[in-house]
Amino acid sequence: MKTSAIGIFDSGLGGLTVAREIAQLMPHESQLYVGDQARCPYGPRDARSIQVFVHQIASYLSAQKVKAVVIACNTASAVALDLAKQHFDVPVIGVIDAGAQVAASSTATGRIAVIGTALTIDAAAHAQALAGIDPQLQVSGHITPELTTIVEAATALEMTQLAQKRGDYYHLVESYVRPVLEQEPDTLLLGCTHYPVLADTLRSVAGDQLKIVSGEAHVARQLKETLDELDLRAALDAQPQHRFLTTGTDLVDFDLRGSQIFGADLASVGRVEHLELAELTDISLSESFH
Ligand code: DGL
Repeated sequence: MKTSAIGIFDSGLGGLTVAREIAQLMPHESQLYVGDQARCPYGPRDARSIQVFVHQIASYLSAQKVKAVVIACNTASAVALDLAKQHFDVPVIGVIDAGAQVAASSTATGRIAVIGTALTIDAAAHAQALAGIDPQLQVSGHITPELTTIVEAATALEMTQLAQKRGDYYHLVESYVRPVLEQEPDTLLLGCTHYPVLADTLRSVAGDQLKIVSGEAHVARQLKETLDELDLRAALDAQPQHRFLTTGTDLVDFDLRGSQIFGADLASVGRVEHLELAELTDISLSESFH
């Protein structure tokens, strides 16, 4: 079991921001990553659909004998973490609590804004987690759906324009940030694992006063603690065997964009593979997931 991989998944590339932190903190651990790009984005879908997707992917990962599952997606964590924890034998870790803890430690004024997908913000997942940490915190939630699409699909030209503070996407980010600033938060929590990729753009729009935080590094620390407690850590001289799977069909694009996010060439540090969506959709829903 100690040599088994850690299963990590997201709707697409965003979870690689979490995978990157896990690789940095635990370089000897193997990762089995699934990006469900064929069904990305998750944010505009209904909660039930996402619960079914989580069941499918976590079942697939369990069948591959992973030693832990990280739901590296706020949307999926918001609506399916509790179900997944009850259903799977291996430890299951989500990303909402980690983000909330980082934001709560960051704020001085107690005013926190959260941006995320429609499903995450409507579920008020971070707001609830923050209220559990400190009921006095004032939390505003803002839906910023297109940010996922920018990370998944913006062209090189569009990314250059973003860096140069121009173009349609830059104006879109500005229009998202304006109502956030009206709430006068001192901390902005990135409540979607895709968004850290756009942290520089968000900072250039929001200005230096606002602290921009996210939970990936904390998720990696929580995972390490869990593996330590269960005595499931790989040996420190182990050679990691990573696999990066996408249900999408463009492996070259997945590798290119994914490598930038992961901070290393995916195809050099592991194998980049296509996962047939049917391998997930053929999995029938277990009783306990209803
Ligand atoms: N990366 C995701 C999240 O953290 C999902 C974005 C989406 O698919 O809409 O919420």
